[in-house]
Amino acid sequence: RQNERESLFIVLNFAKNFFEDQLLTTEEGQSIGLSYFRERGFNDTTRKKFELGYSPEAWDALAQAALAKGYSAEILEKAGLFIPREGSATGGYDRFRSRVIFPIHSVAGKVIAFGARIMKTDSAAKGHQPKYLNSPETAVYHKSEVLYGIFQAKNAIRQADVCYLVEGYTDVVSLHQAGIENVVASSGTSLTVEQIRLIGRFTPNVTILYDGDAAGLKAALRGLDLVLEEGLNVSIVTFPPGEDPDSYVRLIGTEAFKDYLRKSARDFITFKTTTLLADAGEDPFRKAAVIGEVVGSIVRIPDAIQRQIFFHKIAEMMRVDEQMLISEGNKLLRKQK
Ligand code: GTP
Ligand code: MN
Ligand code: MN
Ligand code: MN
Ligand code: MN
Repeated sequence: RQNERESLFIVLNFAKNFFEDQLLTTEEGQSIGLSYFRERGFNDTTRKKFELGYSPEAWDALAQAALAKGYSAEILEKAGLFIPREGSATGGYDRFRSRVIFPIHSVAGKVIAFGARIMKTDSAAKGHQPKYLNSPETAVYHKSEVLYGIFQAKNAIRQADVCYLVEGYTDVVSLHQAGIENVVASSGTSLTVEQIRLIGRFTPNVTILYDGDAAGLKAALRGLDLVLEEGLNVSIVTFPPGEDPDSYVRLIGTEAFKDYLRKSARDFITFKTTTLLADAGEDPFRKAAVIGEVVGSIVRIPDAIQRQIFFHKIAEMMRVDEQMLISEGNKLLRKQK
């Protein structure tokens, strides 16, 4: 077992070097991959820090290079890099082709997986390929336990005593380049307890920077009760429609972006209340349902003093009796036990 994990780390590191080499030293990599990164405004320092790469269009360029170095097709497959197929010369094809590559590192900095972005979003031309392709689960990659960028961010998270959580790879990379290094991405999945505990190793404070589209926001709101339960302090920042942290920091610049974060961050409970209330309008039944939802979130907070502060704040916001909220909360707490 231990041996297999070690072999996977070695072949994943080989692949990372291969992709980086393709990006920098081949005509295809330079004219397609490198120019893509440049068009997005990623400079060489940023590119090196994240070890960004390029996977060529050929069916099995990585596999051929790896086999020539003595790696087996089996270990390539176990690393999630190779998909076997009957009757082809090398016995299969590379998982990642014609994409720019974002290596995913463990907390300790080992490459454990890859995210890969298609460059032309013209899906007709690419036969409806997904925008991003990720490594599958392997012996060293458990998606639900990993945060993209944690290795590059961990010291900055400790120092700033807050972790920014964004949705995408490019948000992490872009914010680093803007000098905001305490940032990680959940990479499109909803947040898991393991990911929350990983952040909790470095800080109790999380600020979630959502893309500026309302879709999925309400579902995400419910998912965030998990974070409260782990005792983390959660704040939320949203962006104007169509913007994400990457596009927005490039639009308004680093200093204005930092100001924006300071001014628009709202604690999760307040944010949730405002968002749900805006939906409910003046309908008393729907308002009552909002109270239930929000009280349900408050009682997840392990700290009794924090709970009390939120009951007080929400009572004022909703113009309802604080004691009523508290007794609703106590009912829910008893049910949980
Ligand atoms: P750019 O379009 O390159 O700026 O990337 P983005 O990170 O802004 O993409 P988006 O906001 O659409 O998605 C956020 C994250 O969700 C991405 O970084 C990916 O991790 C993930 N994601 C997006 N599209 C796909 C997809 O088609 N498949 C998979 N598996 N993940 C995706
Ligand atoms: Mn797993
Ligand atoms: Mn984006
Ligand atoms: Mn985005
Ligand atoms: Mn009070």
